[in-house]
Amino acid sequence: MADKDGFKVAKDYQIEVPFANNSKSFYVKGANNLDWGMKKHLANIFDAKSGNTVMFAFDHGYFMGSVAGLERMDLLIPILAPHIDVMMCTRGALRTCVPPIGNKAVVLRVSSGSSMLNDDLSHEIVAVNIEDAIRCNADCMAVQAFIGADGQLESIRNLSNVINEGLRYSIPTMGVVAVGKDMERTDRYFKLATRTLAEIGVNIVKTYYCENFEEVVAACPVPIVVAGGQKLPEDEALTMAYRAISAGAHGLDMGRNIFQSKQPVSMAESIRLIVHHKATDKEAYEFYQDSIHK
Ligand code: 5RP
Repeated sequence: MADKDGFKVAKDYQIEVPFANNSKSFYVKGANNLDWGMKKHLANIFDAKSGNTVMFAFDHGYFMGSVAGLERMDLLIPILAPHIDVMMCTRGALRTCVPPIGNKAVVLRVSSGSSMLNDDLSHEIVAVNIEDAIRCNADCMAVQAFIGADGQLESIRNLSNVINEGLRYSIPTMGVVAVGKDMERTDRYFKLATRTLAEIGVNIVKTYYCENFEEVVAACPVPIVVAGGQKLPEDEALTMAYRAISAGAHGLDMGRNIFQSKQPVSMAESIRLIVHHKATDKEAYEFYQDSIHK
């Protein structure tokens, strides 16, 4: 405790200056009325300057087992970490393969229940409770949402339970729009799915890019990050990234298009150029080609 000696009487109140922290809006879409802790977690995810994020998804193992390119997360993650903003992974991957150092945000996959052996992937449970999400220092909890599938009600129950717990402990929730084999990848479907998740109360939505994506973004009152989906040629993946950001997405949450790229680091950096530095897909692809030929 400071001592009393030399105490100086306060006098500079600058009464003509309005209270500085009265900002009308917090830069993350739809988060203005959230608690300080929720905002801090969202600020850990979305860059204050660009408003966007490069999320690296490596949670595939929870239902796909070992995926090409992710055979050795323990070797890949330390190499990629400096080039991404957020790690999206399971608690198993986090505890075994992610060094607890540095300042990377974590989006923790908390739902589970599927495997590649299932025909119907749409039935999941909440596998990670809020206490373990807190122990993992999660900035956000990710829950799969099967809107329009057989497991719809279960996934809405899972989402609602995680949102309720997240609000109690100020940890945001991300709804992950699943697109099972029977689901259409149209703006009609994605408008329904993304808006449904936002109305249920998620703070971030992850979905896939589609035509008329501007309308999907406009109708969703929380930030959308776009998953990459199956591996594309790097130029096509960067064009999809560019179109998504141009349409108002607040980031990419790519997995296979980074870890199955010939040069994951170069790909991550190329995506960064689009997400944070307003580069076009052409500029980003030129960067990618230059960097792989170095
Ligand atoms: C897997 C997921 C992935 O996080 C999501 O699909 C992003 O990865 P990719 O870009 O490889 O599709 O939800 O269940």
